[in-house]
Amino acid sequence: MNVLITAGPTREWMDPVRFISNPSSGKMGYALAEAAREAGARVTLVSGPTALPSPRGIETIRVETAAEMAREVFLRAKRADIIILCAAVADWTPARRARQKIKKSEVGGRRPGFTLRLKPTVDIAAVLGRKRRRRGQVLVGFAAETRRVEANARGKLERKKLDLIVANDVSEAGAGFGVDTNKVILIDRHGRVERPPRASKQTLARKILRRAWKMREELLEAQ
Ligand code: C5P
Repeated sequence: MNVLITAGPTREWMDPVRFISNPSSGKMGYALAEAAREAGARVTLVSGPTALPSPRGIETIRVETAAEMAREVFLRAKRADIIILCAAVADWTPARRARQKIKKSEVGGRRPGFTLRLKPTVDIAAVLGRKRRRRGQVLVGFAAETRRVEANARGKLERKKLDLIVANDVSEAGAGFGVDTNKVILIDRHGRVERPPRASKQTLARKILRRAWKMREELLEAQ
């Protein structure tokens, strides 16, 4: 069983000393990678910058930008039986990366302020969802929301053609970015909804993997 997992944030550089990012710690994705390894899978982890050590027994590929993450994932997606896209990939990146540090004195002209132009990044999940998949391949996404959690997650599940989505309300205490616990809703492409109680990211990781595994068995039976 080959399991491919993305984790952590990405960094989108505007010049050599500044980037746009988000507070993702990588904890959920690393917990998933370790749980998959414990279950006996061969695991590849494509990770944005995190403070976490590379887990033992797991091929870990460190990347910085959304573009780098996309490249490493696309190279490995075909071989994967289960793909879990847990990374908080930046949705936008600076339209251009200045080669030299942008000087405060050189922007804004007479008016104070600075407008940074952004362009969309590649949506790794959506590309994988569109592509023909390996037989029985299960694609799992995450949705970090601050409102209408279930409805927004369902929209993403459909738009990106995922098999399963794990939604969390990042505005709640004890859920989402940085913390050790999480409170999630699991929604699959058949519309089945599960609301496990708040639990450690390790416990939830095992649960998510079991669901993905079940979906794989269903897919293989149906195909
Ligand atoms: O659209 P949104 O960023 O909320 O979607 C979240 C899901 O899509 C996550 O599974 C995330 O890892 C994935 N994603 C991706 N590539 C992007 C943006 C999001 O794979 N550029």
